[in-house]
Amino acid sequence: MEIERLLEEAKKELEEIKSPEDLEKIRIKYLGRKGELKKLFENLKNIQPEKRKEYGRKLNELKIFLEEEIRKRRERFEKKEKKEIDPTLPGVYKERGYLHILKEEIKRIEEILVGLCFEIEKGPEIETEFNNFEALNIPEHHPARDMQATLFLEKEKIILRTHTSPIQIRTMLKKRPPIRICAPGRVYRRDAFDASHSPVFHQVEGLYIDKDVTFSNLKGTMEIFLREYFEKKDLEIKFAPSYFPFTEPSAEVAILWERNGKKEFLEVAGCGMVHPNVLKNCNIDPEEWNGYAFGMGVERLCMVKYSIPDIRLFFENEKRFLKQFSF
Ligand code: PHE
Repeated sequence: MEIERLLEEAKKELEEIKSPEDLEKIRIKYLGRKGELKKLFENLKNIQPEKRKEYGRKLNELKIFLEEEIRKRRERFEKKEKKEIDPTLPGVYKERGYLHILKEEIKRIEEILVGLCFEIEKGPEIETEFNNFEALNIPEHHPARDMQATLFLEKEKIILRTHTSPIQIRTMLKKRPPIRICAPGRVYRRDAFDASHSPVFHQVEGLYIDKDVTFSNLKGTMEIFLREYFEKKDLEIKFAPSYFPFTEPSAEVAILWERNGKKEFLEVAGCGMVHPNVLKNCNIDPEEWNGYAFGMGVERLCMVKYSIPDIRLFFENEKRFLKQFSF
């Protein structure tokens, strides 16, 4: 009776198992060292001798039945586990994100300039005409305003900044010298969208105001910066006289670079000694303080460095282009 009851119970429990762990619990319960069957085997000696043979046979049958059932089920679990790993299935592939090349380059430029003790400053893309032009010594009817034809917002005197130079003004109005900042940012011009022009692009500004700053300080800084950025220790750099209303004297900076198998000087930055009027506009005494400023186009630097032929590639977000710069 006891054996039959146990058999029914075990069958029912075996039907309900869901995992190899459940199966193991059942094995221990019935076949374990302190299991139900063990108890029944121990009981064998208390059975009446004439019934003992029959009892022993049934008990053995139960044992074999349970061992077999458990073995079968374990095999089934093992097969299922194996099936879950199918090496012929395509892998689950997650594409890794990366920064846009311009972000990467701005980070690199900042890194170099921070290494030269420049602090990073930011300014808004929507600017006042005062910060963008007037304070920078570009009066209303100055032809330089045409050079930087801009996009006016509805409200008069509010524009999209045409360069990062207004950040010079913002910084000088809020901080006292010495000042040594660099300022990356997006700028806007009313321009064509062709291989070398875009109505939106990026610049990095530099400004250093202190006592007795010299033009050779400016030259040295530009040289160190450009040699680092273009990763060429002996990079040849040329300063040519130029004009900006907010610097005097002013220079254009060019580097000797091989393009299409030919070496030529390519212009990469504008710079100069900060004009005394600009200092005055920011309540800084030009008799006491002076300094230099520079401005560089990020796309331009990048196009030269990586031989990118068309500025539009930066903004089209064509993955095959961008992926080449996923470092
Ligand atoms: N702001 C100038 C431009 O956009 C670049 C410049 C910056 C030149 C600082 C001199 C000094 O062209």
